[in-house]
Amino acid sequence: MRPNQIPKTYRVKSFGCQMNVYDGDRMAELLAEQGIAPAPEGEDADLVVLNTCHIREKAAEKVYSDIGRLRREDGSSPLIAVAGCVAQAEGEEIMARAPSVKMVVGPQAYHRLPEMIRDASAGQRVTDTDMPAETKFGALPKRRRSGPTAFLTVQEGCDKFCTYCVVPYTRGAEVSRPHADLIEEAKRLVDGGAREITLLGQNVNAWTGENAKGQAIGLDGLIRELAEIPDLARIRYTTSHPNDMTEGLIAAHGEVAKLMPFLHLPVQAGNDRVLNAMNRSHTVESYLRILEQVRAARPDIALSGDFIVGFPGESDAEFEDTLKLVDAVGYAQCFSFKYSPRPGTPAAAMDAQISAAVMDERLQRLQAALNRDQLAFNTASVGKTCDVLVERKGKHPGQWLGKSPWLQSVHFTGEAQVGDLVRVELTEAGPNSISAKLLETAPA
Ligand code: SAH
Ligand code: SF4
Ligand code: F3S
Repeated sequence: MRPNQIPKTYRVKSFGCQMNVYDGDRMAELLAEQGIAPAPEGEDADLVVLNTCHIREKAAEKVYSDIGRLRREDGSSPLIAVAGCVAQAEGEEIMARAPSVKMVVGPQAYHRLPEMIRDASAGQRVTDTDMPAETKFGALPKRRRSGPTAFLTVQEGCDKFCTYCVVPYTRGAEVSRPHADLIEEAKRLVDGGAREITLLGQNVNAWTGENAKGQAIGLDGLIRELAEIPDLARIRYTTSHPNDMTEGLIAAHGEVAKLMPFLHLPVQAGNDRVLNAMNRSHTVESYLRILEQVRAARPDIALSGDFIVGFPGESDAEFEDTLKLVDAVGYAQCFSFKYSPRPGTPAAAMDAQISAAVMDERLQRLQAALNRDQLAFNTASVGKTCDVLVERKGKHPGQWLGKSPWLQSVHFTGEAQVGDLVRVELTEAGPNSISAKLLETAPA
């Protein structure tokens, strides 16, 4: 591309959490509105947006190697924008180290991409990592099309400041999007084809707002209202924090049929001293009490969580407490990570950092326990009849892939279409997916 030429095609590559995926989709919509088309699969794009994640180590190194890989044989590069959490945290360094990067844009500023692209196309290098008081959402194009499952960011940022975590710095303070905007965006997604909406937030259950009658509501109130949208079949939400699990939200799990029986509630560790050093502000007992209440409200609920092994100072006995917690809960699925010191976070400066070898060994033991429980959960589902939302074609002829209410990947063969909600019997369980037999197409 010559200078002064606005790019004709784009590619957005998103890394990290679902909120980054949501942001990546919104950037794509914004670029399309500017008349820039998605680059066909396998072809070079004029403009590449690297929508980055900073949560664990080597995030920045990965960005530099991605930038290097974009260089073409003739030595030229596409117009490169670095977006997302690495842009927010290390924008200046990226500009200094990578001359081929022309734009650095933070997660709260990407609605300004069109202007930035004009400036960059004219030869300037531009950085925007503002966290403006007016949010980006109002400036983004209206949503028009959606696949059967859609993400909807309802809340952003985090005020919890866990001592290991960069999110409060990269995403800023907790902000809830207004209720009316969310109802409108949800209706548009449903009109555009969505049958399932996952409400997103770094602390999604910290969402608060005011309904049309001016009453203060929490996430449960929002869920109850969204459940009134006739063609919306399923509602999920993630990620929630134990301290924001209100009674209302717990009750909604038993009362709102469209709210799927799945809860992702990260705990991080199974020992109170470690939780305290992490600044989690909940205990093992308070966490378990919440799970008990959720199970009382919705006995078949599938539970999920996040774990960190090898937090600074974690002893062998303290790590054993994490395994005990896992045994006590019986999770349906989980994410588990080795602790990664993040620049600028309090934990990175703590004494007694744990060696890589110890972390490896702990992670292996933890993952063995989690895999065992995941297979047990899937195996216990065999024989159940449930609805599956069909998301895409499978590898084999006539095969379809979708999700059970408990977020298990399900595959079956038969007459169906993407977006159908079909009735199946779960027949055979594997660690990561379940085979099923198609029973009949459920009425919408
Ligand atoms: N807001 C969510 C999670 C956001 S980050 C919550 O608090 O639950 C997703 C997960 O990444 C965290 O739950 C944690 O398990 C992991 N994580 C965050 N910072 C990390 C670090 N420095 N090292 C390793 N894992 C980390
Ligand atoms: Fe990070 Fe803790 Fe906030 Fe989650 S609650 S985003 S782990 S600081
Ligand atoms: Fe990563 Fe930022 Fe999400 S650091 S996990 S992309 S909030």
